Amino acid sequence: MARNLFLVLFAVATLLHGSAAQTRHVVGDSIGWTIPSGGAATYATWAANKTFTVGDTLVFNFTTGRHDVAKVTKSAYDTCNGVTTIFTVLTGPATVTLNETGEQYYICTFGTHCSLGQKLAVNVTKASTTTTPSPAPVPTPAPKASPVPTPAPAPAPGPSTGPATFIVGDATGWTVPSGGAAFYTTWATGKTFKVGDTLVFNYPASAHNVEEVTKEKFESCNSTSPIATYTTPPVRLTLNKSGEHYFICGVPGHCLGGQKLAINVSGSGTATPPSGTTSPSPSSPSSNPSTPSTPSPAGAPPQDSGAASLVGFSATLLSLAVAFFY
Ligand SMILES: *[C@@H]1O[C@H](CO)[C@@H](O)[C@H](O)[C@H]1NC(C)=O
Ligand SMILES: *[C@@H]1O[C@H](CO)[C@@H](O)[C@H](O)[C@H]1NC(C)=O
Ligand SMILES: *[C@@H]1O[C@H](CO)[C@@H](O)[C@H](O)[C@H]1NC(C)=O
Ligand SMILES: *[C@@H]1O[C@H](CO)[C@@H](O)[C@H](O)[C@H]1NC(C)=O
Repeated sequence: MARNLFLVLFAVATLLHGSAAQTRHVVGDSIGWTIPSGGAATYATWAANKTFTVGDTLVFNFTTGRHDVAKVTKSAYDTCNGVTTIFTVLTGPATVTLNETGEQYYICTFGTHCSLGQKLAVNVTKASTTTTPSPAPVPTPAPKASPVPTPAPAPAPGPSTGPATFIVGDATGWTVPSGGAAFYTTWATGKTFKVGDTLVFNYPASAHNVEEVTKEKFESCNSTSPIATYTTPPVRLTLNKSGEHYFICGVPGHCLGGQKLAINVSGSGTATPPSGTTSPSPSSPSSNPSTPSTPSPAGAPPQDSGAASLVGFSATLLSLAVAFFY
């Protein structure tokens, strides 16, 4: 009995631990992403007392057309140089997943917005879930004399549905294919893309870029005002929305030559963690299919409410633990 209690409490601790690892940070809180009246100190202060871990998201809340958000290098951040960005998102509010550790820099590239203080640096640390102990003791055969039903935090049914990484075009990479647009259509055919999966676009620096565009612009190869532009290869994109996604190269002529990719992303599988919008750290054990993921409550809603439902779920386990105890 004591051992069962321990196991249940262990599961609760594991769940709370996991839920703490994926936080949604609304940049600037109520002021959103704008030219702050207090200058650059505003966002430095906002970030100062927060912990950012891999898998967390930043929400840059701005009005499309009045600002943008670009991830840049430290030197571009320091000098407010918006010419060469790592990626730029033009549509607000923009959700950016923190998918690597270390210092990350974001600016608005509009006019003098950055030098007026619309810039943010965050220091991202490793996701704490990477230190989650081996899942061996995780719940829990039904206790023989249990008066209550077994809690069913059922570890995911199969490890095979964990996040996958796709190298676009495989060895050909991201280029103007000799076979024309059929090349990327063929590449995508037969593959299943899920929320949480990652696309990698490989190409020589400055030979190409990657632009996510609407269906209409994909079809007409119109590179004006893309949804997002990524310039620094290899471009790693975590698929964080289900539905159709369209990518083109914005270098003139390349899309018309066939450098375009359309994929259809299905909702996350049941084995995907509740916040399917986060991207796994490339080195994270959670991307290792042989490591069962942290048990996730069935049908957990995505993103915002994920942590809340985890807490609710944990509360259920706690009450079960209390039931064991008496
Ligand atoms: C973004 O800002 C608008 C206007 O201030 C507000 O209504 C909305 O709730 C904000 N969204 C987020 C995610 O904070
Ligand atoms: C970022 O965090 C890491 C790990 O905590 C630390 O070693 C590093 O000095 C931090 N960088 C800055 C600029 O604070
Ligand atoms: C491309 O899209 C923009 C709108 O984003 C539109 O103004 C422009 O006319 C389009 N160009 C062509 C050639 O369709
Ligand atoms: C994409 O997938 C959804 C759901 O599976 C489906 O309804 C839709 O028709 C698909 N779109 C295309 C273009 O295949």
